[in-house]
Amino acid sequence: MNYRQALSHLLSPFTQLPEAEIISVIESPPDPTMGHFAFPCFRLAKTLKKAPPIIAQEIVAQTMDKPLPEWLEKTVANGPYVNFFLDPTVFARNTLEAIRQAGDRYGASDEGAGKKILVEYSSPNIAKHFNPGHFANTMIGKALDNIFRYLGYDVTSINHLGDFGTQFGKLITAYQLWGSREEIEETEIDGLVRIYVKFHEEAEKDPSLNDTARAWVVKIQNGNDEAEALWRWFVDISMRSFNRLYERLGVRFDLIRGESYYTDKMPAVVETIREKGLLIESDGAQIVDLEAYGMPPCLILRSDGGTLYPTRDIAAAIDRYETFRFDKSIYVTATEQILHFAQWIKVVELMGYPWAKDIMHVTYGMYLFESGRMSTRKGDVLNVEVLLNEAVAKTRAIIEEKNPNLANKETVAEQVGVGAMIFNRLYNGRIKDTMFNLQQMLNFEGETGPYVQYTHARTCSVLEKAKTGNLSDAALQYRHISQPEAFDVLRLLCDYPAVIKDAAEKYEPFLIPRHLVALAQAFNTFYQKNIILTDDADIRCARLALTKAVQTILSGGLALLGIAAPRAM
Ligand code: ARG
Repeated sequence: MNYRQALSHLLSPFTQLPEAEIISVIESPPDPTMGHFAFPCFRLAKTLKKAPPIIAQEIVAQTMDKPLPEWLEKTVANGPYVNFFLDPTVFARNTLEAIRQAGDRYGASDEGAGKKILVEYSSPNIAKHFNPGHFANTMIGKALDNIFRYLGYDVTSINHLGDFGTQFGKLITAYQLWGSREEIEETEIDGLVRIYVKFHEEAEKDPSLNDTARAWVVKIQNGNDEAEALWRWFVDISMRSFNRLYERLGVRFDLIRGESYYTDKMPAVVETIREKGLLIESDGAQIVDLEAYGMPPCLILRSDGGTLYPTRDIAAAIDRYETFRFDKSIYVTATEQILHFAQWIKVVELMGYPWAKDIMHVTYGMYLFESGRMSTRKGDVLNVEVLLNEAVAKTRAIIEEKNPNLANKETVAEQVGVGAMIFNRLYNGRIKDTMFNLQQMLNFEGETGPYVQYTHARTCSVLEKAKTGNLSDAALQYRHISQPEAFDVLRLLCDYPAVIKDAAEKYEPFLIPRHLVALAQAFNTFYQKNIILTDDADIRCARLALTKAVQTILSGGLALLGIAAPRAM
């Protein structure tokens, strides 16, 4: 049941406003003693030529004049507002029945049926560490991927690997001078980074190394066997370590496709840009001038004819459109790439592709660490695998202290430790920079993943103890969960589908973890004030039904974020 819709339907004859407009102004008062919904009358003052408080009183008089729908207890004028009070018993019944029927599909929909969405995320660079930024990227992308699928869209997830560029010439040079196959097989990316760093140190003393590296780049591009075999090996070594992380993070891609995949598609793209009269020469390079759009030029071809990062993105976008005919193509990347994206998307638009408007750049802020930001050049980048291990180790210690007899301790420590890091990143919002603080994200009483997981485990334990197999609604006496603290829980349950929709519309997964924390808090308040497993069978049954609904939404919500919900912890 959509109350906003029903209310706007009810109000429409009194206000002469279209229902959609009414829906957009209906508010949820923060304090339910002020009503469960409120309609501000300011907008009507002009058309009705009356003061808003008078209008509010008139609307109330008119609505109360007729029999109200079953779910609406009363309407009350409060200054310029009409406040609506739902019938708590009917509200409880409607909400819990809807959740019981939909189960873990509550909030799912088919609004996206027949629509194709591409979500590109993660996209780490070969032979470099998967850094905390890539972790943020991966989990924001994964959440969006899940959310859009949940809303019925036909989603294809893409991992756009950075497997192209001059660094591979440097790596081959470094490998041949100082590398050991055994060492790299064993240490993987660490080993590759080590020789890459050494290359930069040595090239400062001996610049001719750069020429050797450049020669290798040309060889890779010309399909030289030795160069290609080494490049492929670097890719394999890197993927081995990335895949271990993806496994832990529960991430799987429909398509893993590196930048290099687009190499042979590049000449045609450059040709089209030229044909459209967009390409101009500047210092030997080929560029598209974007001054008219307030941006620096977009670099298409280097003076030596090599293609550039924007060119590969343009080629990839065209290829994706031709392959998928997407309705929307989403790219998750760090805010540092805003200009790059604005530039190449503008070029795609200038090339005359109408679908340029369907490209969405979804950005996110940095992780901040006490020791400041780190760079790959010096090789001291923070390793996500190490951070995850630390989170899991700390969780293991907490479990040892609080619940040493827990079954599957190792699995739960992994689910809670990894979940804490994911939850924390999503909870903090997309754009803001996030301070990395393990202690804070693992606080079982804070606004954290472990707190939500713990509350979920609590609902599971209550339900298990009760062993009421069947919470059939016929036996339920919903009036037993009509008290304010139950209403707070029910309101959050009822709003959950709208939160998912909102998260999708705004590309803001953080709305979901915020809602889950509020729901967990409301449930814990209810739990403290009411003994669920009380002797009165009717009351017990009603309270259990509420508990069951909370369990459903907490586990479903965590799943949307890519986080496990252990049944005990
Ligand atoms: N590999 C790049 C990096 O780690 C991100 C790629 C973003 N995607 C894109 N289509 N340009 O910075």
